[in-house]
Amino acid sequence: MNIGTLYLPNTSLFLAPMEGVTDQAFRLICKQHGADMMYTEFVSSEGLIRDAAKSTNKINILKQEKPIGIQIFGNNVTSMCQAASIAQKHNPSLIDINCGCPVRKVVSKGCGAALLLDLDKLVSIVEEVVKCVDVPVTVKTRLGWDDQSINIETLVLRLQEVGVSAVTIHARTRQQMYSGNARWEYLSKIKKNKNIKIPIIGNGDIRTIEDAKKMIKECRVDGIMIGRGAIGNPWIFENIKNNNEKSKTVNDICKTIKEHLELACNILGEKNGILSLRKHYSRYFYSISHSKDFRIKLQTLTSKKNITECLNNIIDNYDCKKDY
Ligand SMILES: Cc1cc2nc3c(=O)[nH]c(=O)nc-3n(C[C@H](O)[C@H](O)[C@H](O)COP(=O)(O)O)c2cc1C
Repeated sequence: MNIGTLYLPNTSLFLAPMEGVTDQAFRLICKQHGADMMYTEFVSSEGLIRDAAKSTNKINILKQEKPIGIQIFGNNVTSMCQAASIAQKHNPSLIDINCGCPVRKVVSKGCGAALLLDLDKLVSIVEEVVKCVDVPVTVKTRLGWDDQSINIETLVLRLQEVGVSAVTIHARTRQQMYSGNARWEYLSKIKKNKNIKIPIIGNGDIRTIEDAKKMIKECRVDGIMIGRGAIGNPWIFENIKNNNEKSKTVNDICKTIKEHLELACNILGEKNGILSLRKHYSRYFYSISHSKDFRIKLQTLTSKKNITECLNNIIDNYDCKKDY
């Protein structure tokens, strides 16, 4: 599959951009476990232009993360072009434009999914960004604003016309937020439209190998993107590739957390690295019985040494029949 000039294996596995989750350390862990293509968390175009540390830190990418896209959001043509040019200097494989974020803070400023209410504006922003960067430009979006205004097919055709290289579709409307089921039937419908030639990446509710196989088979999408299903389960990518949903032992989980912690502390410094891991512990240990006490303990520890000791202790002493 080709995304513009970027070559990717057929039915590639994409790690979804997730604000507050897919930082560099987590991305490196997912890459190690088979993610073919990844994205930064979304970055505000206005923040990038102001040189706000929160935004600029998010677009630091490493060579070994490639192929990787930098995702930007905004609602103003000039700012989006400026932000895309700044992002391009960090040498991403592509620039992705967020047209799907449903959260009020973003939508109230006319960004993310709010652009689905004004396709002319959305398309003109994207068209200008395509013109001002040399790397492929992609769009990540939803089916439409609500059930009464599902406009994804028209949108994809219009984006293709202005030079967008691929579209990722989270198969929900903005109104759905994250509730109900992703409506994969819309992905099938789009893939059946012979006028749509650019790759379509399907997204929404892939949590198991069976889900992945089903989306590929039934929707015939060019790639699949996994978000929440990878949190606490970065192995999902290799499991899908190997068609083997082997459940992870406490040893496997603790070993991966140690690697994740090491990376996070190297990248963010010990204090922030430790803080960044806290939201991951409950998902890593989700399938492990009687893990509540040590999950809570891990969340309170403040040095890498103590966390590593705690993880080693879990490896040595965990007994699934015991209460901790
Ligand atoms: C915590 C969280 C943060 C997210 N942040 C972003 C983001 O920065 N950019 C984006 O395009 N989508 C974002 N999303 C949406 C995901 O990329 C994805 O479209 C959505 O979770 C559906 O896929 P899933 O069912 O595989 O999780 C976020 C989702 C979650 C749960």
